[in-house]
Amino acid sequence: MWIDDLNDLVLLPRGRQYEALQTLRQKTQAADHEQWNTTFDSTSLYQAWTRLPLAQGVYEVNRPVIRRAIAGREDWRIVEIGGGNGALWQEFFADAPPGTLTLIDPNQNAHTAVAGRLPEHVELHSIIEPAETADIPGCDVLVCSLTLHHVAGRDTQERAAFGLDGVGKLEILQRCLAAIRDRAGVAVLNEADCYHEIDLAPGDPALIDSFIDAYVRRTARAVADTMARSGDGDESSHPWQLILRHWCLDEVDYAFADRADRDVYELDVASWLALLARAGARDVNHIYSDEWNLFVQYVFG
Ligand SMILES: C[S@@+](CC[C@H](N)C(=O)[O-])C[C@H]1O[C@@H](n2cnc3c(N)ncnc32)[C@H](O)[C@@H]1O
Repeated sequence: MWIDDLNDLVLLPRGRQYEALQTLRQKTQAADHEQWNTTFDSTSLYQAWTRLPLAQGVYEVNRPVIRRAIAGREDWRIVEIGGGNGALWQEFFADAPPGTLTLIDPNQNAHTAVAGRLPEHVELHSIIEPAETADIPGCDVLVCSLTLHHVAGRDTQERAAFGLDGVGKLEILQRCLAAIRDRAGVAVLNEADCYHEIDLAPGDPALIDSFIDAYVRRTARAVADTMARSGDGDESSHPWQLILRHWCLDEVDYAFADRADRDVYELDVASWLALLARAGARDVNHIYSDEWNLFVQYVFG
């Protein structure tokens, strides 16, 4: 079982775990699979991802915050940056009064998936653009879940230092805060607690170890644990097996990719808190949303 192999791996000294990971990957054949963050329909691997307790934990901590923020508001407005398959909104609005959800996401598939989750009394405004360039309209709640880590660099200067133009996380956070200020709203950010920012060079041993920590010691083992407990029998035919093998174990290769191709530029909790303070966020609360201490919810005004 995957969980046994992974538990053996994490018992090794950390300096020997990368080699053990390569051996484990060789032992388990690569298969055709859907690329992360591309397809969000009901048969997608992303849909299987959102059924994992790890992902469900994110939605479970976000829903009450959002519900409180729109309670009693006529014509409420929510902005979501990065919609995925819209799992957060499944049956969420059944008892809510009419309102508007604006989705900012460059992937048309996410807009189609989110639209499919909404009842008729919720109007969807689609902005098919990345958060870096989109105008963010005023709102009561802004949700940015597992998305901002796709933007490299803390800010414009850090990006420029590594040859990238455009804005970084800070400037987007500042625009998010401007969007909630007029309506005295609240912002919800969810991100993994790990450090893969652009300042660490490809192949840096600390970057490799951090990728192993986030994607193998925590995410892969959380998936393997869920799979083992589900008792579905043959793990090799389970969609979670593809997630584990390709979206977790293979992800470690990004530690060697060129900076511009790293795909994930995550920050640990201390770094997010420092960045939120720089952006002017107030009353920041943060909690882990799963027992693996992977994903963190930050709520602020
Ligand atoms: C990992 S999914 C998260 C989806 C959902 N929020 C959740 O928690 O399940 C990331 C989403 O962000 C979108 N995305 C990626 N880069 C983005 C960017 N620069 N601006 C806005 N959305 C982006 C992807 O298309 C995808 O829908």
